[in-house]
Amino acid sequence: MKKAIVLTLLMLACIACFASSEPLRKEIRISTDRVDLILEVAPDQRLYQLYLGERLSDTFNVGLLSRPEYISGNGTLEKRAREVYSCSGNEDYFEPALGIVHADGNRTSYLLFQGVERRAIEGGEETVIHLADNQYPVKVDLHYVSYPKENIIKTWSVISHQEKKPILLTNLYSTMLYMEASKYYLTEFSSDWAEEVREQTQELTFGKKMVDTKLGSRANLFCQPFFEIGLNQPVQEQQGTVLMGTIAWTGNWRYTLEVDNNHLLCVLPGINPTASDYTLKPHTKFVTPEFIFSISFTGRSQASRDFHDWARQYQVKDGMGPRISLLNNWENTYFDFDEAKLAECMKEARKLGVDLFLLDDGWFGNGDNARQGDNAGLGDWEVNHQKLPNGIPGLVQTAKATGVKFGIWIEPEMINPRSELMIKHPEWVIKQPNRETYYYRNQLVLDMANPEVQDYVYHVVESIMTENPEVAFFKWDCNAPITNIYSPYEKTQQGNLYIDHARGVMQVMKRVATNYPDVPMMLCSGGGGRCDYEALKYFTEFWCSDNTDPVERIFIQWGFSQFFPAKAMCAHVTSWNKSASVKFRTDVASMCKLGFDIGLKELSDDELAYCKSALANWKQLTPAILDGDQYRLVSPYETNHMAVNYVSKDQSLAVLFAYDLHPRFSETLHKVCLQGLNPKAVYKIEEVNLMPGSSSDLKFNGCVVSGEYLMKVGLDALTCQSMKSRVVTFVQQ
Ligand code: GLA
Repeated sequence: MKKAIVLTLLMLACIACFASSEPLRKEIRISTDRVDLILEVAPDQRLYQLYLGERLSDTFNVGLLSRPEYISGNGTLEKRAREVYSCSGNEDYFEPALGIVHADGNRTSYLLFQGVERRAIEGGEETVIHLADNQYPVKVDLHYVSYPKENIIKTWSVISHQEKKPILLTNLYSTMLYMEASKYYLTEFSSDWAEEVREQTQELTFGKKMVDTKLGSRANLFCQPFFEIGLNQPVQEQQGTVLMGTIAWTGNWRYTLEVDNNHLLCVLPGINPTASDYTLKPHTKFVTPEFIFSISFTGRSQASRDFHDWARQYQVKDGMGPRISLLNNWENTYFDFDEAKLAECMKEARKLGVDLFLLDDGWFGNGDNARQGDNAGLGDWEVNHQKLPNGIPGLVQTAKATGVKFGIWIEPEMINPRSELMIKHPEWVIKQPNRETYYYRNQLVLDMANPEVQDYVYHVVESIMTENPEVAFFKWDCNAPITNIYSPYEKTQQGNLYIDHARGVMQVMKRVATNYPDVPMMLCSGGGGRCDYEALKYFTEFWCSDNTDPVERIFIQWGFSQFFPAKAMCAHVTSWNKSASVKFRTDVASMCKLGFDIGLKELSDDELAYCKSALANWKQLTPAILDGDQYRLVSPYETNHMAVNYVSKDQSLAVLFAYDLHPRFSETLHKVCLQGLNPKAVYKIEEVNLMPGSSSDLKFNGCVVSGEYLMKVGLDALTCQSMKSRVVTFVQQ
């Protein structure tokens, strides 16, 4: 009887969880306001993609859609069938989304439709399509979350089974999407340390192009986890059809882009299978990473704004909340500091007007393992008593007395061989038992597949917060990829390591974010090595690059802005490239989440006054820069200039950033036409961020003009001077 009640309650809970359950039907439509993805359950109960493109009207008869390619009656493949989640060993001879080796060694799987459920979620709708093999007890649920207004679809798959023994997963893509066009152009973003997000475009022709990483501990270093595909023409800002996608996974990922013999493009985003054939135990679930995509029919600029809107509202930690400005001590002191020096830095933070002082690397480790450089101390998260006799509480107190908040750097998943932790727990380290160890930045990665290690890493944050509840910011670094791939914890299942490690990292991040929801946190990874949308669920922002040369930053920020809102991108004023003025450096950093990493002694009185007023201006302009819409106007890839404007959501405030990099002698200068303003409203133009004693030479400065004028006629905002920057505000009158 009791059992029956429990079962009934469970069933009711399931019904409550899914608001409505639809009967089996032929077409499944997943829509945003601008895109339709229409799937079809064929008579053989397999699921195929029928349509992916511009949204069809509500009255459109979806029944009229048919796939041009079908498997012919006698079962031979005439053209690719466009199965939605094709498996290894079936008659689609292209790269499968899912590869399974069943417990009996059979490598084929056929997924048949079982049902579909839909439910409302915040901002959109979730569709779950249930599939199952009819010969093996294997189930796959395809999840699609559509955000109609933001034109974003997020999709992932859940694989489970009840075979008697574990099965092996060999291909682990999150989804499969098919596109049809006369030509396909891929824009990808290669990278390296201090060279993040270098945009390049190539045509995709017959065969496969793979874009991937195998760093283990982070989403990116040599290659960013996002791509753009222009259909029929290379990707453009303002026109053309473009698919933009990114994967939410702090680990090894791969995009396989395959153009088949019929010139159909198949997009496969997912986990990188290299060294990752995953052993899945019976009665457990394998959840693939989320793949997030948008299709714009008016160029990538619109899709970027859609990503920004969606990310702030639904994905990034505290995406709609305010951001704090800070002064970091890394480039100012490196490892060489003590309490007196830090007290001085805090005073400088106060003088500048930032909200917080951020203490970087070098505050922990003792004795032989003191963190005096990057070769010792990681893993020993006890304050260095010699440098900081009053501990973190002492620093928090000093910050408080000075009138700034206090934040701290950690790199908790890492270990130096010179550490107490290495002596205590050598079995916690990813390291080959029988080969020479290769060190990257003198460090190794902790084995985050191991729950004990996860707890240890979580407690790094917890113990700082317990001792110092007033700590108001964390910078969480990750300076090494996984080398010497071997986990003592995984034992004979080494193929699970990369995946379980990434999951372990994300679980700890989630635990931290859940328990400290109000503490802003910055992702960092040897510069911009971690900026995926899974980690960003738990972090408010990320460090774009250790390269803070403002000219380089113009390109780097341009690149990241394709997918990430300015609000999530940290940019600091430093002393890289002193040939650029402090104004130029500050103006470039002001396009994102502004901070400083510079000793004030390096600044003249005028420069300091400039920084203070630029920071005050930036704070006023955050409704446009951080929370508004961004329009990339002039590309640094195509010209010797760059310009971008931001508009607040109510269109009452806009700001234009215009830069002259290295213009040619007497170059023809074009007017800069703004975008996103209210054409009927009138705006007062004011150039701000002027050095003390200088005045604006901008034509129409101080004038009131219409939004229409600014967007159709434009402003003479560019010049032929090298390294000149302009910040111009537009306030609706
Ligand atoms: C990485 C970060 C830097 C700094 C150092 C400290 O390189 O990107 O900002 O925190 O680590 O070691």
